[in-house]
Amino acid sequence: AQAPVKVEIQANAPGAKINRDIFGQFAEHLGTGIYEGVWVGPDSPIPNVRGIRTDVVQALRAIKVPNVRWPGGCFADEYHWREGIGPASRRPARVNASWGGVIEPNSFGTHEFMDFADLLGAEVFLSVNVGSGTVQEGADWLEYLTADKPTTLQKERAGNGHAAPYKIKYLGLGNENWGCGGAMSTEHYVEEMKRFSHYLRNLNPAQSGDHAMKRVAVGWDSGNSDYTEEVMKAWKAKVWSWDIEGVSLHGYTIPNTWEKKGPSVGFGEDEYAKGIKATLKMKEWVAKQTAIMDRYDPEKKLGLYVDEWGIWVDPNPGSNPGFLQQQNTLRDAVIAAINLNIFMRNADRIRGTNIAQMVNVLQAMILTDGPKMLLTPTYHVYHMYVPFQDATAVPVSFEAGTYVHGDISLPQVDAVAARDASGKLWLALVNVDPNQPARVSTALAGMKASSAKGQVLTAGTVDAHNSFHRPNDVAPKPFSGRAAGGQLQFDLPPKSIAVVEVR
Ligand code: AHR
Repeated sequence: AQAPVKVEIQANAPGAKINRDIFGQFAEHLGTGIYEGVWVGPDSPIPNVRGIRTDVVQALRAIKVPNVRWPGGCFADEYHWREGIGPASRRPARVNASWGGVIEPNSFGTHEFMDFADLLGAEVFLSVNVGSGTVQEGADWLEYLTADKPTTLQKERAGNGHAAPYKIKYLGLGNENWGCGGAMSTEHYVEEMKRFSHYLRNLNPAQSGDHAMKRVAVGWDSGNSDYTEEVMKAWKAKVWSWDIEGVSLHGYTIPNTWEKKGPSVGFGEDEYAKGIKATLKMKEWVAKQTAIMDRYDPEKKLGLYVDEWGIWVDPNPGSNPGFLQQQNTLRDAVIAAINLNIFMRNADRIRGTNIAQMVNVLQAMILTDGPKMLLTPTYHVYHMYVPFQDATAVPVSFEAGTYVHGDISLPQVDAVAARDASGKLWLALVNVDPNQPARVSTALAGMKASSAKGQVLTAGTVDAHNSFHRPNDVAPKPFSGRAAGGQLQFDLPPKSIAVVEVR
């Protein structure tokens, strides 16, 4: 039997606040991510509220989605907001050139998205079109959304059914402008970004001071730091007329190569180990982007926003390859937990992240098929991690142990802890090893524990998943630790994630 992993928890030493936006979502006009997945239209036989699926909203409310990033992704840099307002019958149909060449009917536009966010109780992260749009178009969108004085655009918004100004928490200044967002050099992007930052004004009087909209510039691209460096350099030297509050990082987990990423289901330990190894690159990416930001901004005024991340594998056989539809397995749940733990450990700089993507696309929370819907293993991790939203991180240290598969050697155990607003202490534990259980014992400083109860997510195989005919194969089960002498002991099953409240 392996020696227990000792997890030292400084129960009363406060760390950084874990911004709830670390648990944010991303919904792009891509495949069935919006149409079918969220929007079915008011005349659909699928139960809906003003065209938005009731089942999907209900499920997402349970994971307390803090914010939704929309309308892209690559789509954002070819999105023209005017095409998505006004009577549905008059909205132009376009080709979605980024994703599958299908018709974009524009029936889900600005008001429908705002309605959706409101139904979720989520805040809004808008990505503005820098690639093919103009500063004027973006400035008009912001005025249309946020003006409270009777300007022509405010009146147009009121005429379209929303008199009160909308609130926009985050404004993404473009998306991947090194690539699908216009293939801009770093210098070119920075010049554009400054103009968008200056002229896109949030006019909602309720959004001042602490509630002011945060502008997020494009940064890091899976290993390439050029944009981050250039953006931070410009920010440091900036004059009064423009500003940003954050820089993004995009980093996907690709188990194999870009051309042949690997299957989303029907795999064994090889693919599992490769997937976990690939996802641990996030730790390095975050550390490198943080180091660059620290050089220009040692006071940590700006946030790091990992506004696209997740596992990206081959599309489901037979599906439109431009739809990025993939199954979601227990491996993906382990990957979600590992990444959320990395983000929480870096909560002093990471103020938000958006997993790609919320429904039916890449590492989704929810899959739909006509009227049917299922919750993925990744959804269950987000559900189990709700107590960490806006909690205060608690310092944790441990020797992770090792999981070895062939020539891949990985940390076996992962752990994070935090106190929620009501003072409850929460502990999340991951056992990466798909074959061996892990015994974890605590060394709690500043607290005597008498119990630890919560849930564990595991399954028989690494590619276990939920399907429309077996939607509950992977679901959380009750889990607890043993208390003795004020300390706790846990037996984590192989390939599992557990979250417990420590009392
Ligand atoms: O999430 C899918 C795509 O991945 C996004 O549209 C793009 O920003 C990224 O390359």
